[in-house]
Amino acid sequence: MHVTSARWDAAADAVDPSLIPQRHLYTGATMPAIGLGTFGSDHVAHSVVAEAVKAAAQVGYRHFDCASVYGNEDQIGLRFEEMLNSGLAREDIWVTSKVWNDMHGEADVIASCEKSLADLRLNYLDMYLVHWPFPNHHPPGCDVSVRNPHAVPYIHETYMRTWRAMEKLVDRGLVHHIGSSNMTIPKMKLLLRDARIKPAVNEMELHPHFQQREFFAYLRENGVEPVGYSPIGSPGRPQRDRTPEDTAPTEDPVIVKIAERLGVHPAVVCIKWAVQRGQTPIPFSANRRNFLANLRGVISEPLTAEDMKAIESIDRNCRLVKGQVFLWKDGQSWEDLWDIHGEITPP
Ligand SMILES: NC(=O)c1ccc[n+]([C@@H]2O[C@H](COP(=O)([O-])OP(=O)(O)OC[C@H]3O[C@@H](n4cnc5c(N)ncnc54)[C@H](OP(=O)(O)O)[C@@H]3O)[C@@H](O)[C@H]2O)c1
Repeated sequence: MHVTSARWDAAADAVDPSLIPQRHLYTGATMPAIGLGTFGSDHVAHSVVAEAVKAAAQVGYRHFDCASVYGNEDQIGLRFEEMLNSGLAREDIWVTSKVWNDMHGEADVIASCEKSLADLRLNYLDMYLVHWPFPNHHPPGCDVSVRNPHAVPYIHETYMRTWRAMEKLVDRGLVHHIGSSNMTIPKMKLLLRDARIKPAVNEMELHPHFQQREFFAYLRENGVEPVGYSPIGSPGRPQRDRTPEDTAPTEDPVIVKIAERLGVHPAVVCIKWAVQRGQTPIPFSANRRNFLANLRGVISEPLTAEDMKAIESIDRNCRLVKGQVFLWKDGQSWEDLWDIHGEITPP
């Protein structure tokens, strides 16, 4: 393993990165089992998120979940550059980025990846994801009622054209792995059937109130690592992404009780559960105390078997990121995006 230079300015209270559990991808590569999210939910300034990335690296984070649509890759790139110039080796960090929905054409995928690389000031990405399986663009920050008049349903042939471009990025060495996000079992079955280069991860919403048990098991059986977004239940998400039915895992009495016993915030219990269950959570935080507590949570005493069982029992099937803006015709409900009847929702 590469040894980071002593010049690298780790914080005195940093977690030793070698203690962080690793996920073993089907390619033989290892990926740190917790990453830092970088979507500021429209209210945390790009410069503050970038600052958090560097501070998180100083306390031991080695995995960063970025995306072109978050609008902050150029600022994060300046921080990566500082980190890599001060003794951290490129192979010590794991960087993910994602192609946005308006860039699904073959040439666009390549151009988008090259732009992310330039912004992030890197010459390769560890992981590149198709952010959503729908090529339906909507303006960042728009209300959930906004619809793209040219929106289309999931069309597998179209998705595979995008995937072929993703595979070319691997062939060209611009990215080491490719993966999907916001998929469903029926869509993933087709992708696994037709991919020349299999997805190494699927990024998806996962927290104690939305455990996606069947999909989770399917992914692991097929050698695709589940990466869990909104692992704390996204308490800072924009107002436009909230509905009255939404529940908050951090307020669940089971989580609160375990947190009180351990003397930690309920968010930390969500993160411990996620890593112990076998997914890779990517919690966002711009607050040093919180992101350090989350990282400490994964190297400290594990939850007990009873805790794990109790948390398993509080699933509410409560999807928070519903994706309404991707609907393609009038009269649909957001459930149509998620193939809840076991087959791809017909056009
Ligand atoms: N692929 C996709 O389509 C997709 C979709 C959504 C998100 N994501 C990715 O997943 C990441 C995480 O998801 P998310 O940001 O929606 O939600 P999240 O990680 O579940 O929640 C983040 C919120 O939790 C708070 N928090 C974090 N640690 C805490 C702690 N120890 N104690 C108290 N509060 C804490 C943060 O506040 P403070 O800043 O105050 O700590 C922030 O408001 C995103 O940043 C993004 O990278 C991907």
